[in-house]
Amino acid sequence: MGKIEIRNVYKIFGHQEQVALEMARNGLDKDEILKQSGCSVGLNNVSLTIGAGKIFVIMGLSGSGKSTLVRHLNRLIEPSSGEVLFDGDNILGLSPKALRSFRTHRVSMVFQSFALMPHRTVMQNVVYGQRVRGTEKQGAKRLGQHWIEAVNLSGYENKYPHELSGGMRQRVGLARALAADTDVILMDEAFSALDPLIRAEMQDQLLQLQKELSKTIVFITHDLEEALRIGSEIAILKDGQLVQVGAPADILNNPANDYVARFVQRRQIGVQAE
Ligand SMILES: Nc1ncnc2c1ncn2[C@@H]1O[C@H](COP(=O)(O)OP(=O)(O)O)[C@@H](O)[C@H]1O
Ligand SMILES: [Mg+2]
Repeated sequence: MGKIEIRNVYKIFGHQEQVALEMARNGLDKDEILKQSGCSVGLNNVSLTIGAGKIFVIMGLSGSGKSTLVRHLNRLIEPSSGEVLFDGDNILGLSPKALRSFRTHRVSMVFQSFALMPHRTVMQNVVYGQRVRGTEKQGAKRLGQHWIEAVNLSGYENKYPHELSGGMRQRVGLARALAADTDVILMDEAFSALDPLIRAEMQDQLLQLQKELSKTIVFITHDLEEALRIGSEIAILKDGQLVQVGAPADILNNPANDYVARFVQRRQIGVQAE
């Protein structure tokens, strides 16, 4: 059993959810379902096991369903059908109170757009989750200091987000997720908005931290290079369906179909990811 189990998850966006769901179950593809029902298929029968303590990458082109998938893992999105289990517990059964506790204790998220609170300092942003769960001020601050140092932001504790570069803001986002002290961290294109050099630095830093922390990290990217660099395992999505799951070497050496092969070819001829 994995840390996270996703079982036969479908997600339909639109007004004819049940009709479109039936079409997806009958094997119609995303374009056909859109044409016939006006609904957009976010996920189409996705099942995945995500092991503990590793960086699990979900990759695919824009619109392939990556954000939809990762948002099921903290129930920002509920499936049209299917199950999501954490340590064997079905998170869809959580009461509102249990869900709040789940989100503060078990899973945290780093967003592409940083999502920092603009009127709070770096320190206040980083310790926010700890404060919400009731950690007293001094204890939270000590913890905050630790993670601010871990992401190389010492000296910036009292700055506000607008005083920082993009790379530094994302370090704050990462420190905030780490300070929340959850087993699972979700990162949705967290590095995609950064300049290539800063991005490579962040990847190194994440790998370095992960050596000590062994968190379960679900990392979303549209960039094969990034996926290969940081993933222990990579799942590839197309039109809401999984097309391949494997170790980086599997993806490179045995692409499951043309879609995956195109990612690999682009890499070999050195085309920059868009
Ligand atoms: N809130 C929504 N309402 C309607 N359609 C949506 C919504 N969110 C996502 N979709 C659709 O679901 C599909 C997957 O989107 P998304 O998960 O955002 O892809 P990705 O993160 O891979 O770019 C797309 O076709 C998108 O248009
Ligand atoms: Mg997305």
